[in-house]
This record gives sequence, C-alpha cells and structure tokens, in this order.
Amino acid sequence: MGKVTALRCRDCTTEFPPTVKFVCDQCFGALDTVYNYDEIRLTPSSLNGREKSLWRYFDLLPVKDPDRIVNLSAGFNPLRRCDTLAKELGLKHLYVKDDTINPTYSFKDRPSSVAVSKALEFGFKAVGCASTGNLAAALAAHAAKAGLDCYVFIPSDIEANKIVQTAVFGAKIVRVNGTYDDVNRLVTQAADEYGIGIVNVTLRPYYVEGSKTVAFEVAEQLGWEVPDHVIVPLASGALLCAICKGFEELERVGLIDGTDVKVTGVQPQGCSPIVDAFKQGRDGISPVEYPDTVAKSLAIGDPSDGIYTLRNIRKYRGFAEAVSNREIIDSVRLLAETEGIFSEPTGGVVLGALKRLVEAGRISSDERVVCLITGSGLKAPEALTGSLPEPITVEPRLQTLAPIMKR
Ligand SMILES: Cc1ncc(COP(=O)(O)O)c(C=O)c1O
Ligand SMILES: [Zn+2]
Repeated sequence: MGKVTALRCRDCTTEFPPTVKFVCDQCFGALDTVYNYDEIRLTPSSLNGREKSLWRYFDLLPVKDPDRIVNLSAGFNPLRRCDTLAKELGLKHLYVKDDTINPTYSFKDRPSSVAVSKALEFGFKAVGCASTGNLAAALAAHAAKAGLDCYVFIPSDIEANKIVQTAVFGAKIVRVNGTYDDVNRLVTQAADEYGIGIVNVTLRPYYVEGSKTVAFEVAEQLGWEVPDHVIVPLASGALLCAICKGFEELERVGLIDGTDVKVTGVQPQGCSPIVDAFKQGRDGISPVEYPDTVAKSLAIGDPSDGIYTLRNIRKYRGFAEAVSNREIIDSVRLLAETEGIFSEPTGGVVLGALKRLVEAGRISSDERVVCLITGSGLKAPEALTGSLPEPITVEPRLQTLAPIMKR
C-alpha cells in the first residue's frame, strides 16, 4: 500500500481513493489526505542529515516518487527568538517563524511545491490557481521549474511587485474585474472546461499538505515540543487547518507527546468573516462582499475553509482577533525596527492581534508564543507609502551632517 491511503471527508468521514477530487460526494465537505500512519517510521534521528527544506518530511507528504518532486528548497526556515520584540509586547518567550525567506518570499512556496509535484504525478500539462498574489508567484515559479504551463487568476487590485514576480516566471496572468471570490468561481469553472490542475481548488487536498510542514518545523525547532500558542493569519483558513493537521500527525507518528497548543486566527478588520463568526459564537460564516484592507493577501470575503477554521480555533482553545490598517502598519514597523524582519502587511495583522490579546490578558507573559510571518515586505512596499520618514538630502559637506547625526 502507498503511504497515502485515502481522501477523507472532514464532515462525514467517508473515504475516497486518492485521485483528483476535492469535495465529498455525500455531503460536499472538504477532503483531507490520510496516510498509512502505522507504516511511517519517523524519529528525530531519522531526520538528521536530511535536506533543509520541507521535503525532509517526505514520508508525510502526498508524493510518491522522491525523484519527481519539484523543489526550489522552500521551507525549513528559521524560528527566530525575538527578545526585543517580546519585551516591547510584555512577553517572555516570543518566536517568529520566518517564511519571508522562501524562494518567492512567502509561505505559499510550500503548498506550491507539493501541488506542482502532485500535478506532474497526475499527468497534468498545466496548472493554475486563484490567488490574492502570493500563491500566484509561488505557483508560477514551481510550474516554471517543472516545465508546466501556468495560468494565474487574480483580482484586479493586487500589488504591482506580485504581478512582476509572477510574470517573470512565464505564467499567464488573468486579471479578473472583481473580488477574490469572483476569481475563485471563475477558476473552478475553468478547471472543468480546460482540464488544468487548479492547485488550490481541484488539487486542494494535496496542496494544503505543503503548509502543514510549518507545524512540523516549529515542533522540530523546539526540540520536538509544541509551543504554548501559535498565531496564524487567515484568508481562506487553509493554513490554520493545515497547522492543526500537522501537529496531529506528529503526535500520530510519535514525534511529539501531545497537541497541547493553542491556535489563534487573525484577520484584518476590513475582511474578518472568520473572526466575526468566532466573536459572535456562530458556527457559520457570513461572507464579506467587498473586502477593504491594506493586507491584500488576506482579502478573501468568503473563506472556503472558514467553518473548519472556526472548529479548529475552538478545539485548540485559541482566540480570533481583527486589527485596523493603522495597527497593521505600526506592527510591520515594530517588527522591522526591533528584530530586523521586513514583513508584508499580513505579519502586521499577526503582531497587531498578538499585542491586543496580550493587552486584554488573553495571552499571558510566560506563554511560549510562535507568530507565523508568512510573506516578505518587499512584495507589498506600497502599504508603507506615507508611513516612513523621507530620506534627508544634503550637500556633500561635513557641516551639513551636524543637525542629523549623533556623536
Ligand atoms: C502571506 C500570506 N499569509 C497568509 C495567508 C493565508 O492563507 P490561507 O488562505 O491559507 O488562510 C495568505 C493567503 O494568501 C498569504 O498570502
Ligand atoms: Zn462528507
């Protein structure tokens, strides 16, 4: 038997063969990849010496042939201890999982590497995605490496650098006049009509497996322990659900002793359907029709994993919090000025929400907290327009420096 045994419905647990399939025939629930866990032999020492990318966890990834993986070395990024920032926020043990340094500078390289590998295995000649910008570039890069055609569908307002970064890899960019949710609907129809592997729709059960490696790495980097609390940015909610699955699988194969970790989800105030549902104690999501936020990566008004994200936040005793554009920008600057890490606005959502939760007494000062910083600030520099001091222009004479420099 191969290591992937089935795709299992998250709602009714019906199992299906692991083919190209993403919804349950019985109840339309989402499908998860299930492995033959009893046969998986992973120990801390078996991982010593393996490559420093997400592919070190090949045994728990849904690709059959190690020689056919599409690998730009995404993952195994630093878990940075952030003592200066911790002090600023009133915490004692704060870490940043730094996914700004992936091949295309966001965590989306992880699911893209897995999904493109899987697309090759299934024999697709072309891949595509609906994207708020980061997946576009990540998929385009991995498709280029794999020699597959790539069609990227984006809403009309994403950042200029993300478009350049996608176009350079040779992807066809289709800019749709509408929101991300309009894009998502169109791309689902295109998958059927043109037979392309839409990584975050038709290949979704495999695609999300790449993201769970964030949880694997955090546990490994903490010496095979879970932190007390993880703060996760939410758009569709896929990353948060993948993190939870990752911790559960580590426990299942015996690499960690338990999953006693709180998982908190955060969104920008201009697009916070999951946070709103959590705060109002609802089980369902009321979509946001027109998202409006500086954190454009998170502008998904109708999150496809919304209800599962809510369930996971409750199961893992976390919180949900939303922050304003001002808090996002201030937090991006705070992270940069205290720890030398330049995050895109998404990271500002994470730290802004962390600040709120600490101030509200929901996170205590001695918790070991891990913040997921999922994309680089160079991908969205316009977010900071007008927020940073202008350079000081001088004549090339020493005296002109007197009012500027400290002795
Ligand atoms: C940088 C960044 N962080 C987090 C997310 C949230 O991802 P998800 O849709 O898995 O919730 C995204 C989504 O595009 C993103 O681009
Ligand atoms: Zn079902």
